[in-house]
Amino acid sequence: MLTCACCSFLLGLLEGVNITSPVLLIHGTVGKPALLSVKYTSTSNDKPVIKWHVKRDKAVTVVQSIGTDVIGNLRPDYKDRIKIFENGSLLINQLQLSDEGMYEVEISITDDTFTGEKNINLTVDVPISKPHVVLTSSTVLELSEYFTLNCSHENGTKPAYTWLKDGKPLSNDSRLLLSHDQKVLTITKVLMSDDDIYSCVVENPISSGHSVPIKLTVYRRSSLYIILSTGGIFLLVTLVTVCASMVPTKQVGAQPCPALHAQWPKPPTAQSPAVELATRWGRKGLGTRATMPWAAIPHLG
Ligand SMILES: *[C@@H]1O[C@H](CO)[C@@H](O)[C@H](O)[C@H]1NC(C)=O
Ligand SMILES: *[C@@H]1O[C@H](CO)[C@@H](O)[C@H](O)[C@H]1NC(C)=O
Ligand SMILES: *[C@@H]1O[C@H](CO)[C@@H](O)[C@H](O)[C@H]1NC(C)=O
Ligand SMILES: *[C@@H]1O[C@H](CO)[C@@H](O)[C@H](O)[C@H]1NC(C)=O
Ligand SMILES: *[C@@H]1O[C@H](CO)[C@@H](O)[C@H](O)[C@H]1NC(C)=O
Ligand SMILES: *[C@@H]1O[C@H](CO)[C@@H](O)[C@H](O)[C@H]1NC(C)=O
Repeated sequence: MLTCACCSFLLGLLEGVNITSPVLLIHGTVGKPALLSVKYTSTSNDKPVIKWHVKRDKAVTVVQSIGTDVIGNLRPDYKDRIKIFENGSLLINQLQLSDEGMYEVEISITDDTFTGEKNINLTVDVPISKPHVVLTSSTVLELSEYFTLNCSHENGTKPAYTWLKDGKPLSNDSRLLLSHDQKVLTITKVLMSDDDIYSCVVENPISSGHSVPIKLTVYRRSSLYIILSTGGIFLLVTLVTVCASMVPTKQVGAQPCPALHAQWPKPPTAQSPAVELATRWGRKGLGTRATMPWAAIPHLG
């Protein structure tokens, strides 16, 4: 037993193929080449038999060669993309997302007792294109129930998201909720302290992108009346303009403007265009359901 273990050890040193690799995890980019770099040592000067497999459900042969001469035909998806180097390294050109996986190389030499083996992992990704922050509005009213910021980017695989507030990373807390993938930041019960500059960072193994910082303005509740009044004036001007442009038709019976005026002091109906406009403005501008735009309008008259 002891002798045998000793023999194997010596044989391993003297007659086995030993494969080393400087990098065991390679991050490749779609369309670019990747070198799965290895080198082997052997006491024999014979040409080695080199086999590269990739682990799928079962191992799939990528290429087999004697020295650098490929044996047989390559699979269609590897045709013209594969090269074997003298030291056993595998070069894959024009990387595809499907090339990602765990690769195993086996190198054997007739005279040698042991076959050398090595595993190298390859990831393949599309670079991240510049992300941007999507907001429903750049202003929000203090104490609004919730407000979402969405980190969006066109291209890029395996994105990992980080949110920055004034340049500092944000983490989940009781009011700032990050979606599971951290893509969407939801601020609940908006406070004045949320008035700040936000940006997002998207990263993957080969690249990262930083959005343009976005300013979120938080308004105090007490400023609601002023904002609504301003909105009311805007509405009034719009209606007057619309009415004025309708006057020349002079058709009896077709008089939408007086009807509108008559509705103003009362809580409005859903059909009223004035209310619809005001409500839409209120939602868009303030991001809150608690606003009652008509409440402010009568004060103008
Ligand atoms: C293979 O080479 C490495 C580095 O030179 C060495 O540490 C290791 O012991 C060798 N293994 C065998 C089986 O010879
Ligand atoms: C390679 O991938 C396998 C399977 O995903 C994993 O178990 C192993 O730790 C990885 N090795 C390296 C060096 O990343
Ligand atoms: C193997 O050979 C290739 C091509 O000459 C070279 O780029 C690579 O660095 C070599 N690998 C090692 C581990 O020496
Ligand atoms: C996203 O990828 C497509 C297809 O490769 C390309 O046409 C487009 O310009 C890319 N978009 C960005 C923002 O890089
Ligand atoms: C975030 O943006 C994505 C893509 O633009 C969209 O599909 C998603 O519904 C948005 N999520 C929220 C909460 O706005
Ligand atoms: C943040 O917390 C919410 C609610 O507790 C949870 O659903 C979400 O997955 C968490 N996000 C992260 C990135 O941990």
